[in-house]
Amino acid sequence: MNQNFVTQLQSGLADLQSKGTLKKLNHLASPQSARVTMEGHGEVLILSSNNYLGLCEQLEVVNAGIQALHDFGAGTASVRFICGTFTVHRALEQALARFVGTPASMSFVSAWNANEGLTASIAEEGDFVISDALNHASIIDSIRLAKAMNRCTTGVYKHSDLDDLVEKLRANAGARRRIIWTDGVFSMEGSVAKLPQILQIARDHDAIVVMDDSHATGVLGATGRGTAEHFGVVGEVDIITSTLGKALGGAAGGFVAGPAALCETLTQKSRPQLFSNALPPTVAASALAAVEYIEAHPERVATLREHTLYFRAAIREAGFNPLDGDTPIVPIIIGETADAIRMSELLLEEGIFVTGFGFPVVPQGTARLRCQISAAHSRDDLDFAVRAIRKVGLAAGVIR
Ligand SMILES: Cc1ncc(COP(=O)(O)O)c(C=O)c1O
Repeated sequence: MNQNFVTQLQSGLADLQSKGTLKKLNHLASPQSARVTMEGHGEVLILSSNNYLGLCEQLEVVNAGIQALHDFGAGTASVRFICGTFTVHRALEQALARFVGTPASMSFVSAWNANEGLTASIAEEGDFVISDALNHASIIDSIRLAKAMNRCTTGVYKHSDLDDLVEKLRANAGARRRIIWTDGVFSMEGSVAKLPQILQIARDHDAIVVMDDSHATGVLGATGRGTAEHFGVVGEVDIITSTLGKALGGAAGGFVAGPAALCETLTQKSRPQLFSNALPPTVAASALAAVEYIEAHPERVATLREHTLYFRAAIREAGFNPLDGDTPIVPIIIGETADAIRMSELLLEEGIFVTGFGFPVVPQGTARLRCQISAAHSRDDLDFAVRAIRKVGLAAGVIR
């Protein structure tokens, strides 16, 4: 073992520790739910989970995974094009396409993988790819990879600044293909992309729109079909990517949805698809059951929406000024990273698990507590959370 290497790593970690920005892992000993058992802390209320609809422990979703374990075994032992494609993958992909309103879809072991392989599969030398400044890290890395591998031209427009987007598209009017990449919901802000305007700009500039809807699938729109449903433009987005690891059962996995020819292209070209095992059938079956559950129970999506409105109003009344938005991501800006992490630790002592995010996940000086609401919460849970956040906020001098 190279001891120098270990010593260097330890010194990097000690540096983070001294700045108060070292992340610590908490171990849960029960299913992801409104309340969980956390090692060393007993029962705590979770306000940091992407389990937006409470489907992680929904009986139908869990049972579908168990049944698939019996029907298909533990895993695929192969990538898709060799011998890793199971009938449950096809069933899931048909259901996902139906749900988000595209002709086809293709599953991946994570949304990270879905995004990572996408840009390089559709952008070549002479193409222009432009990305919102606050897009998810998986989109940023996907574009960097495409640029390094295929030498496409890339650009970034200021967050949700459509004048900047237009200006940069105009400057690249000679490109063979123009691709606009945006999150549907921006995960650290809880804000929604200006999708109708982005679609119009894409039409005006002969561009295509790729939208990562990971925090919107199952969440936005009357029946949870995402950002396109929220704005009444289902079927108009060229490519939608999303995760199965949040509202859709929360296990893992992601997908790209769009024209059949796109999914066929990904089978040929997407490197995570070509060089990594397929989604385990258990996970595919649970995600399929989650989609079917949401289709049969739109009231679960309505409950999430009502809880979100309730929490946003209550946290304001408690003296905080969260970032505005329509989504269940409710960020309370604290400022310094160490303060956000300290508040999160104090909240844990009060029985609330809410993560403090700081640089480099969010810009310097905008560290925040990111509260996430779930349909699994009860009104009592939300009241309990607001009381605790107020108590800790007063103690920390964040509110008066
Ligand atoms: C917008 C967005 N895209 C992609 C991902 C990655 O999802 P997955 O966990 O399925 O890789 C996340 C997860 O945090 C996300 O928030």
